[in-house]
Amino acid sequence: MADDNILSGDKTDDAEASLEQSLRPQLLAQYIGQDRVKHELGVYIEAARKREESLDHVLLYGPPGLGKTTLAMVIANEMQVQIRTTSGPAIEKPGDLVALLNELQPGDILFIDEIHRLPKIVEEMLYSAMEDFYVDIVVGQGPTAHPVHFPLPPFTLIGATTRAGMLSAPLRDRFGIVEHMAYYEVDDLEAIVKRTADIFQTSIKPSGAHEIARRSRGTPRIANRLFKRIRDFAEVADQNAIDEAIVSRSLTYLRVDEAGLDETDNKLLRTMLDYYDGGPVGLATIAANIGEETDTIAEVVEPYLLQIGYLKRTQRGRVVTMKGYQHLGVPYPDQK
Ligand SMILES: Nc1ncnc2c1ncn2[C@@H]1O[C@H](COP(=O)(O)OP(=O)(O)O)[C@@H](O)[C@H]1O
Ligand SMILES: [Mg+2]
Repeated sequence: MADDNILSGDKTDDAEASLEQSLRPQLLAQYIGQDRVKHELGVYIEAARKREESLDHVLLYGPPGLGKTTLAMVIANEMQVQIRTTSGPAIEKPGDLVALLNELQPGDILFIDEIHRLPKIVEEMLYSAMEDFYVDIVVGQGPTAHPVHFPLPPFTLIGATTRAGMLSAPLRDRFGIVEHMAYYEVDDLEAIVKRTADIFQTSIKPSGAHEIARRSRGTPRIANRLFKRIRDFAEVADQNAIDEAIVSRSLTYLRVDEAGLDETDNKLLRTMLDYYDGGPVGLATIAANIGEETDTIAEVVEPYLLQIGYLKRTQRGRVVTMKGYQHLGVPYPDQK
């Protein structure tokens, strides 16, 4: 999705990164929603702390903007250890990984975002690091080259990915704790919006917070982003509290529809109806038709449409459901 797309789950720029930093909850108790994940992690963290051991390796997966990075930071705070942050594509060669691992103190966390994009040779080196806390590296070149067994302190690897399916089985199996991040309930998003408004010292009516929450595609990053834009609209309109009316007007302007879908979502559904009789049609075909990356469709667009039941996955491809037809105001064909 293009960078200017307000509903893409991805971060857009540095300004947004610093905004996110200021909005990140620090402790599990401040982390809103994801109750099952929080409960499980709470138990594992407490157990590890009691045993004075490092936490088992953690894999967090789910669509962008749901709080994976935030949760990694929260885990570090709860474990009272340092966290080093990197990403799959940033670790280009085994030496990069060794350098990172070498700086860890016992119990520290190494956070690898987009872990499905690790180069294969780096990934293979991680296996022994994760399992037995050592790496074998080759030192020197040519005739003087020799293997060195390099012990590591016990550490916790936290991996985050939007594509659990793209992780190799040997890597996935080495995570003792695997948590799936689900889209947020409206109530939880409402609480997140209220918290954000508090931090920005902006007054917001419950109806306003509810409306933002309802139209944020189940995603905290989007809720915060919409909040920020709507706050601008409210300020310019000289309105001292954000209410439902200003939210609605702003979202119309931002082209976020009643269901919280954006132009890409609607274009996808519309194209499936107009050119493929509502499907079944393959993901790559849809992507090509609407001029988006297949990855974007797979990671951002499709998961939410599946979640709200506008799309359905079948053996032969994606199909628009009756709900999807209704959303576009098109009668559902009789023969379906
Ligand atoms: N459970 C939550 N409670 C409060 N804010 C959250 C929560 N989850 C995410 N956020 C906010 O949403 C934004 C995006 O979260 P982030 O952790 O960067 O998502 P991800 O890493 O999954 O893409 C951050 O600004 C964060 O403060
Ligand atoms: Mg992240």
